[in-house]
Amino acid sequence: QRILFVTPEIADFVKVGGLGDVSSALPRALAVHHDIRVLMPAYREVLASSRKIHHVGHLPAHGDLPACEVGEMTCDDGLVIYVLLCPELYEREGGPYGTGPGGYGSGGWEDNDIRFARLSLAAAEIVAGHAGLDWQPQLLHLNDWACGLAPAYLAWQGLTVPTVFTIHNLAYQGLYEASRCAALGIPRSVFHIEGVEYYGKLSFMKAGIVYASHVTTVSATYAQEITTPEFGCGLDGLLRCKAEQGRLSGIPNGIDDSWDPRTDAHLVQAFSANDWRGKRANAEYVRHRFGLAPSAGPLFAMVSRMVHQKGVDLVIEAAPSIVQAGGQLVFIGSGERRVEAQLDRLAKRYPGAVGVYVGFDEDEARCIYAGSDFLLMPSRFEPCGLSQMYAQRFGSLPIAHRTGGLADTIEDGVTGFLFDGIKLASFMQAIQQAFSVYHSTELFYAMRRAAMTGRYHWRQSIAPYTQLYQRISEEAGVEAR
Ligand code: ADP
Ligand code: GLC
Repeated sequence: QRILFVTPEIADFVKVGGLGDVSSALPRALAVHHDIRVLMPAYREVLASSRKIHHVGHLPAHGDLPACEVGEMTCDDGLVIYVLLCPELYEREGGPYGTGPGGYGSGGWEDNDIRFARLSLAAAEIVAGHAGLDWQPQLLHLNDWACGLAPAYLAWQGLTVPTVFTIHNLAYQGLYEASRCAALGIPRSVFHIEGVEYYGKLSFMKAGIVYASHVTTVSATYAQEITTPEFGCGLDGLLRCKAEQGRLSGIPNGIDDSWDPRTDAHLVQAFSANDWRGKRANAEYVRHRFGLAPSAGPLFAMVSRMVHQKGVDLVIEAAPSIVQAGGQLVFIGSGERRVEAQLDRLAKRYPGAVGVYVGFDEDEARCIYAGSDFLLMPSRFEPCGLSQMYAQRFGSLPIAHRTGGLADTIEDGVTGFLFDGIKLASFMQAIQQAFSVYHSTELFYAMRRAAMTGRYHWRQSIAPYTQLYQRISEEAGVEAR
């Protein structure tokens, strides 16, 4: 099957969080069974790469959406990426969504509605055969709010192309004023509760959910959670409806082969289960890098976008007790300025025991997974979460809130620790348990070994996506007839 995978970010060039990893790994995993190509904006980072871009198509202006060219580039491993060449929208100093770090759309560029409507419409035009490409997809796989309008544009043109819309994070919705509809080429007639209207605003996320043939999200537990008022961000009624129709499912993310402590060239020293000397070398590096004192105590880490979702406030509250109990802490991440300032204060208060790096650095992140003993992830909600999978693979036991993908990928007391309810007391209890496991060496090493087995590979996601693609293609065929 010919599939176009549409995404606002890909780790090859630009990554804000897990969606970047997924967009890089999933199409490559699926390429074994499908003719799958990627479509994304030609950001500055894409153009700055040394890859050759061939102009292969043209898309006319539509409403306020400017005309653009379609470029084609091929990665070393053969993955074909179509890039949307539109300098006025995409060639900027800053992140894919804006200049503010840590968000999938918050604090974003003022013209994000135009930027991502342009991406969505391009996907619809390509699948409809209007871009002049010599390759025409049969199915669109769209990711998050930034691609949400694509199935809607198709529907408004009366086209029955099968579309999968994957929700990576329901909390970022792409909400705009109703008055923007005309500029984006959205018919006034669909601005109602059964269409793209969300409490008086235009919602890209809702458009994706309403018009896609099928909605997926990135873990079974989150697929269930988003049908409840607590996690549904106001869309739970619609999502319950989709679930009842059999049009909502959870397909877990995985991790790719680059996350292997035996071969990862970013590490100070490679290691495998039982080779704890190799792991210690990475711990020493991390301690040195973060200005921590040599220590025989456990090293806790947080590698995260520093935003409310991730429960970093709980970690900051727990930090004094961790330090008093003989633990050390390292943080790497960026996000809300207030949180970054709190982290800096924490490091100053506990020199030698708490280290903070405000910023984004993949190489350091890998060394931290490899060097730490425990990863802290008290996320309020977590659609899937990749960090806890990377940590396990690198022998760092996650301590996480029992929610979303964390509940599905951590075995409490076996490969990590899960606690219930976002409360400091329950989080502290899990941390105390981690301390006691750390001090009973046999058990600690047994848990590490269990965590490192690497059971969450993308291979497991191929069959469920393939079945889904087949099913919705058959349904669309029947509808078209
Ligand atoms: P989310 O997508 O919500 O941010 P995930 O756990 O799915 O959460 O993915 C986060 C990804 O971003 C992981 O690959 C993690 O290693 C990476 N990451 C987060 N913060 C940083 C950072 N400061 N530096 C490097 N990598 C980071
Ligand atoms: C989102 C979620 C995260 C998930 C990632 C990739 O950013 O917050 O839980 O792992 O997308 O699907």
